[in-house]
Amino acid sequence: MEKELLAVLDFGGQYNQLIARRVRDEGVYAEIYRSDIDLEKLRERRPKGIIFTGGPQSVYREESQHIDPRIFDMGIPILGFCYGAQLIAYELGGEVKKAPISEYGRTELSVDRSAGLFREVSERTSVWMSHTDYIARAPEGFSITGSTENCPIAAMEDEKRGIYALQFHPEVQHSVEGRKMIHAFLYDICHFRGDWRMDSFVSDQIEAIREKVGGGKVLLALSGGVDSSVAATLLSKAIGRQLSCVFVDHGLLRKYEGDEVEAVFGSTGKYDLNFIRVNAGPLYLEKLKGVEEPEQKRRIIGERFIRIFEQEAKKIGAVDFLAQGTIYADVVESGLGNGAVIKSHHNVGGLPKNIEFRGIIEPLRDLFKDEVRRVGLELGLPESLVYRQPFPGPGLGVRIIGEVTEEKLRIVRDADFIYREEIKKAGLERKISQYFAALSNMRSVGVMGDFRTYDYAVVLRAVETDDFMSAECSNIPFEILQRIMNRIVNEVKGVNRVLYDLSSKPPGTIELE
Ligand code: XMP
Repeated sequence: MEKELLAVLDFGGQYNQLIARRVRDEGVYAEIYRSDIDLEKLRERRPKGIIFTGGPQSVYREESQHIDPRIFDMGIPILGFCYGAQLIAYELGGEVKKAPISEYGRTELSVDRSAGLFREVSERTSVWMSHTDYIARAPEGFSITGSTENCPIAAMEDEKRGIYALQFHPEVQHSVEGRKMIHAFLYDICHFRGDWRMDSFVSDQIEAIREKVGGGKVLLALSGGVDSSVAATLLSKAIGRQLSCVFVDHGLLRKYEGDEVEAVFGSTGKYDLNFIRVNAGPLYLEKLKGVEEPEQKRRIIGERFIRIFEQEAKKIGAVDFLAQGTIYADVVESGLGNGAVIKSHHNVGGLPKNIEFRGIIEPLRDLFKDEVRRVGLELGLPESLVYRQPFPGPGLGVRIIGEVTEEKLRIVRDADFIYREEIKKAGLERKISQYFAALSNMRSVGVMGDFRTYDYAVVLRAVETDDFMSAECSNIPFEILQRIMNRIVNEVKGVNRVLYDLSSKPPGTIELE
């Protein structure tokens, strides 16, 4: 049976990934494309439905992203959100103007319940608005199906042509019945079967990997993070000992983490693969000596990683394929965006250049993080690993401001361990998107017993976020923060202050470097 696809066309809105995730949550496979994708290429992929995302621009400006109007004649249902909705109005001959009153945040929407998207929705429902322009006049053939106090055309449709437009964002949680609208579009309008499931993903991938690899050898760099661990497990299920995993312990991991990875994947673990651990901590410390500049630190850590990986690969001998734990967010972020480079992120230092191989295997390339986690559970990985928090490739190297030293590593590791232990005890472990201790480069005066101290300040960071692109500081109860502070200053030598980082992202990033 042909694989079903919903195409999300990205107009630069901040929720593009969220839209694709929501669609997949409804059991339909979705992919994101640039809005200027060639229509022939789009047609070749045979999408059964198309969604236009929001975006920051104004459709009536020439430099804004437009769309080839022939897309409306392809006979594929289209749904537009926010900018995407305005674009539909504009391209089809309606009118879009700056709104007399902009709307931001939660807004009451009144709907016509006979409209295609709203049959299961309440007559008045709360939706999330964020716009300065609005549709002033609907194009010919469209009927108005929803409005708010300040937005007379908040929803419109041309049922005959299968074109639907929503001024608000049904994909965000604050749009209380948004899911029902997306569901109606997928099933009542596009007529998807909806057979995108994780269990079939696992068996399909195992088969695909076997077919591609044949009798060849595969090499994977295992970091112990969720993505590479799930990739390793999937590959091991498919090809067993044809797989070798190299785990470079750069000495910048959290407390006990290296041993935990070895316990799962090493020779005593339950997976039958060739696991090689390289303890490179001392070498890294040497290379990082005296280096303070964050990007330079990242570069050194990334390059060294690749060199070590190459050396180990040489020992293994010829390999046919290199495997990577790349996930869909990596693909979207590096392939679609044209934003500025804030940090040299993600896959630590690119691909090794000195290993010859026939091809790359990226079994998780199409999956979002929560889907990767579901696959991990399906494959029987321990929950502690599957729900592990995101941890940057350069590890504690970017959680220690300034030079990385053995003493600083000890401090940040011990402080972070206490922090994690207390958060777990408080039952907040899964409620906070990401939390960790970092070490400021600041030393200040304190007093302990009768003695003056001149010690470091530990920074506690905790954020709430859906996509890690923007984040807010987490509201951890004060008593818990105090308990953590108490334990850190008492148990970790070399610390006399604990600071809680209140910054959101932007302007702060999640990591400190
Ligand atoms: P920032 O600091 O950019 O982090 O707000 C966003 C998310 O990405 C993680 N992060 C990294 N992940 N390699 C990674 O694999 C990296 O170099 C890297 N730097 C940051 C960070 O932990 C957060 O979840």
